[in-house]
Amino acid sequence: MSPWALLFLAAHLAAGEPTSITTLTATPAKPTKPDHAVTLQWSNLPDPSPLDYVAVYSPPSSGDLDYLGFLFLNSSASWATGAGSLTLPRLPDLRAPYQFRLFRGPPGRNPRVDQHVDPLPDASRRAAVSGNVAYEGSGARPAQLHLAFTDEADEMRVMFVCGDGGRRSVRYGPAGRREEEWEEVPAEASTYEQRHMCGYPANHSVGWRHPGFVFDGVMEGLRPGSRYFYKVGNDLGGWSETYSFISRDTEANETIAFLFGDLGTYVPYNTYFRTPQESLSTVKWILRDLQALNDKPAVISHIGDISYAKGYAWLWDHFFEQIEPIAANTPYHVCIGNHEYDWPSQPWKPSWAANIYGGNDAGGECGVPYSIKFKMPGNSSLPTSTIAPDTRNLYYSYDAGVVHFVYMSTETDFTHGSDQYNYIKADLERLNRSRTPFVVFQGHRPMYTSSNESKDTAHREQMIQHLEPLFVKHGVTLALWGHVHRYERFCPMKNYQCLNTSSSFVDPGAPVHVVIGMAGQDYQASWEPRPDHPEVPIFPQPQRSMYRGAEFGYAKLVATREKLTLTYIGNHDGQVHDMVEILSPQVDTDSAPDKLVGAMPKKMRYLGIAGSVMLAMLLGFMAGFAVRRKTDPARWSPVQDEES
Ligand SMILES: [Fe+2]
Repeated sequence: MSPWALLFLAAHLAAGEPTSITTLTATPAKPTKPDHAVTLQWSNLPDPSPLDYVAVYSPPSSGDLDYLGFLFLNSSASWATGAGSLTLPRLPDLRAPYQFRLFRGPPGRNPRVDQHVDPLPDASRRAAVSGNVAYEGSGARPAQLHLAFTDEADEMRVMFVCGDGGRRSVRYGPAGRREEEWEEVPAEASTYEQRHMCGYPANHSVGWRHPGFVFDGVMEGLRPGSRYFYKVGNDLGGWSETYSFISRDTEANETIAFLFGDLGTYVPYNTYFRTPQESLSTVKWILRDLQALNDKPAVISHIGDISYAKGYAWLWDHFFEQIEPIAANTPYHVCIGNHEYDWPSQPWKPSWAANIYGGNDAGGECGVPYSIKFKMPGNSSLPTSTIAPDTRNLYYSYDAGVVHFVYMSTETDFTHGSDQYNYIKADLERLNRSRTPFVVFQGHRPMYTSSNESKDTAHREQMIQHLEPLFVKHGVTLALWGHVHRYERFCPMKNYQCLNTSSSFVDPGAPVHVVIGMAGQDYQASWEPRPDHPEVPIFPQPQRSMYRGAEFGYAKLVATREKLTLTYIGNHDGQVHDMVEILSPQVDTDSAPDKLVGAMPKKMRYLGIAGSVMLAMLLGFMAGFAVRRKTDPARWSPVQDEES
């Protein structure tokens, strides 16, 4: 019997009341892996109410109001009997035990509310407390493994978390080599403290939990395009499972990437805001695609708004557990979004951004967890202007096969003369198109969207003014953005002007913009409304917008030296819903190696392209005719007016 139950019993005996004691148990008390389910069982709960609930705590010393989340007992079919059970399918190792407490509902008057203004439990009428649930060797065994490229082509970085900062190593070796002969390199530990957080809830007992120690190890001297196996840890605290990856090959003639923004994290209980179950589907389908690649390398690109922890620290732990099946085997690259960074005293707030920057979108994190938990290539950093560590991982680039990938921060200065602008300009000036015929540029807030995202209008104008000329001058192939939780593919554009409206074309020298913020987060403003609503449809699609989809999913990029293909894969069926093909103009130049042209003779190839374009134009004309016929009665304004 727990000490709480003994106290309860003693109090009731003293008062001469009945001694029916409510019990709450949590099993197993020592799960061995985070994917083990924890089952909560209760009994002898008198006068059950559908608003009774169990709250989740870690560490057990947390105050009653500092719960991680809660579950209503009425999720159990037998709740009305005063007994039942609930199962939590997956809880990450928070490097401290969990404890569960049963409270009587409903909440008292003036309860706290969550971020959707729904009432939060007031944790005022506690009826039972469970024993602790602690992972075996809690915190000593490494967790949350994720890979990333470094600045060196023959390296791979792995980061992971432990509960202590003691020595940890990375052991690795190529496929076929016995483990006793693997290399071993040390991993460096770093962490951050509650005092580094810049606001609520990150710096408050409700949101703060110690993040443990983040370890960073770099595997060196890797042969290109080869499978390596690795594990991390030490003999005392234990080793991780063995994972594997394909090393980077900058000479490869094919590049595969999975790209999305705004994924977020799902947790199996109610917490301070809704968490997106769709994010699980996105990871599931990407894992399917990765497994189908066998020994082909791939890259994952998550372009901002990453965990949506927003100051509730343990949500980062859930996030890294959630992505580990893909991120421990494939480099996982990120750039910063408003939900990692935005805070009232952020250092760069130009006058035009008064309504954009300086909110509390990151829940007081001010970029610190993002900067410590990830280490991207490059050395970009910016002081936070507080005691917090500098913000890192702002802008960087790398080559993977035939694609040069560039990442920017839309949250920090990108205007002419800024460090970031100078970096992007120099990076694009250094391009070697015979080596990487395609350039994929990525950032969080979109340069183009037809969604009714009026708050960011000034930001988009600034991006177009300062960055688009660089994109056009240096022939960026594809510009990918998040922030808007939808998929939208535009034609290749400069300053809103379409250069081609088909879905297969030779790169016209301006990027195809695609918004790919559809990976999990649900809230989103509607598409652009019409000013003359309600007589006409509300959500017309401007001519520059080639495809709009509200379905959750992700983008898959496959590029050879001749062609880059981007597809939109939807989560409801795992199938392709949109596609664009961009043919490299490089194959037309004599500098391109003959083998790059492919098996088909050049003239034949271009006849094929011309035929495809003609067919696309014919289909486009027919589709346009059909749409025109359909829309004429509704008196839609000419599309051209939308763009002027
Ligand atoms: Fe965002």
